[in-house]
Amino acid sequence: MVYLLFEPIEIILRMKTYNSKSLEETQKIAEELGVSLTKGSIITLYGDLGSGKTTFVQGLAKGLGIDRRLNSPTFIIVRSYKLKTTAKNLKSFYHIDLYRIQNEKEIEGLGLKEIMSDPQNIVAIEWAEKLGTLLPEKRTDIKLEYVDENRRSMSIYDYTPGV
Ligand SMILES: Nc1ncnc2c1ncn2[C@@H]1O[C@H](COP(=O)(O)OP(=O)(O)O)[C@@H](O)[C@H]1O
Ligand SMILES: [Mg+2]
Repeated sequence: MVYLLFEPIEIILRMKTYNSKSLEETQKIAEELGVSLTKGSIITLYGDLGSGKTTFVQGLAKGLGIDRRLNSPTFIIVRSYKLKTTAKNLKSFYHIDLYRIQNEKEIEGLGLKEIMSDPQNIVAIEWAEKLGTLLPEKRTDIKLEYVDENRRSMSIYDYTPGV
């Protein structure tokens, strides 16, 4: 007989690792993920400067049908894009970059709670480790690592809340 004394806080559903050899390959992998996203998806990205977070989000946006060029929102922390994919009942895509955020107090002023709680939004957040207690349980983590000038390793983790 096994007694479960502790319930997990979260369960990793799926973990996929990719080795990308170019910017284009990173965008293609991200685009595929973008096509598959459904209501309320929150994508949290981690990795050093230049590891490819913004590049990945550009691919995601393409997969969501956004054809405008997507720039790094480093100076403007939150950028939103209207989504035309009404079939999926989606409204907006939010690209958020917390690089310049110093503490949780600054995050509070950004309205992230509201943005993340509206299931008609798809949200991608760079430097997600800065979210602190705002980090949602249900999310997809993207961890990027620099291998060499043109290569990056990318791991994608789908989480679901513990049951
Ligand atoms: N395989 C690759 N995947 C993504 N970016 C790459 C790759 N190889 C080289 N790069 C370069 O690395 C840089 C990544 O920059 P960026 O996406 O802005 O990173 P971050 O947002 O993590 O700071 C870009 O200049 C891009 O051209
Ligand atoms: Mg970036």
